[in-house]
Amino acid sequence: MRRVIVILALLFGLAVTGAVLATGEVSEFVGADRCASCHPSAAKVWKDSAHARAHKGLDKQQTSDPRCTQCHGVADARRGGVQCENCHGAGRTYARRHVMKDKVLNRLVGLKEPSNVSCNRCHTDNNPSIRPFDFDGKWAVIRHGFEKSKEQEAD
Ligand code: HEC
Ligand code: HEC
Ligand code: HEC
Ligand code: HEC
Repeated sequence: MRRVIVILALLFGLAVTGAVLATGEVSEFVGADRCASCHPSAAKVWKDSAHARAHKGLDKQQTSDPRCTQCHGVADARRGGVQCENCHGAGRTYARRHVMKDKVLNRLVGLKEPSNVSCNRCHTDNNPSIRPFDFDGKWAVIRHGFEKSKEQEAD
């Protein structure tokens, strides 16, 4: 029964997302502010990090150049810099309380499990860094997510 519910919810979610995306009116990204409303301390770490400002070091032309934005993000408030969703996946469907709490469903509708491998997508040997990417050292700088969400605390 539970599986049936999960599948129905998944299909519904995809249908809604598909319909919305087809109209082109709403992005599949909800933006860090939405995540912040339930994950305030993860959001604080992020806001203080280089990722939140990654688009700000680019000039106007570079901010619309895909060769830069693929790693630095764009100037759009919802996509600015390297956002939560760059690592965790676009949240339109999963960023709802009941979906977030279900570890099977949230992954089915797009929540990704970021790891050291996901860093390498942008922290490559070609970026301006002289030294190879040291995951443990870099993760320590942006470590977050081990607190309970606001919603969970309220339970
Ligand atoms: C309506 C509140 C709400 C919103 C909005 C929300 N979350 Fe969550 N999130 C939760 C709850 C509740 C959990 C369950 C675990 C907990 O309480 O910490 C959770 C869990 C998670 C987890 C761990 C999931 C797992 O199964 O391992 C990640 C990662 C996460 N959220 C990221 C995000 C990101 C990124 C966004 C924005 C795109 C977001 N959340 C938006 C409430 C929310
Ligand atoms: C493959 C991913 C990737 C691409 C593509 C990329 N960058 Fe970067 N860039 C990075 C990373 C990662 C860093 C941070 C390196 C570090 O500090 O370890 C960085 C750092 C920078 C910095 C230094 C930022 C600072 O505050 O010190 C500038 C400026 C910059 N990039 C500009 C650009 C421009 C302009 C483009 C497009 C022509 C571009 N980058 C394309 C990944 C990328
Ligand atoms: C640069 C990539 C990156 C960004 C940006 C990022 N995260 Fe994460 N996040 C991670 C990684 C890596 C983990 C650790 C996953 C693990 O240990 O399983 C994590 C863990 C989490 C967890 C705990 C997951 C769990 O399994 O309990 C939550 C919640 C979370 N992040 C929320 C957010 C929110 C909210 C934002 C934006 C405000 C954000 N993250 C931005 C990479 C990122
Ligand atoms: C979507 C691309 C992208 C991903 C994925 C990404 N980063 Fe970054 N990261 C950047 C860019 C771009 C910068 C440079 C921002 C600036 O200074 O303008 C940066 C800067 C940083 C910095 C600060 C500069 C430094 O080198 O100390 C840390 C720490 C960092 N990233 C850690 C991580 C970790 C850990 C992961 C994986 C969990 C990760 N990043 C994943 C693009 C990315």
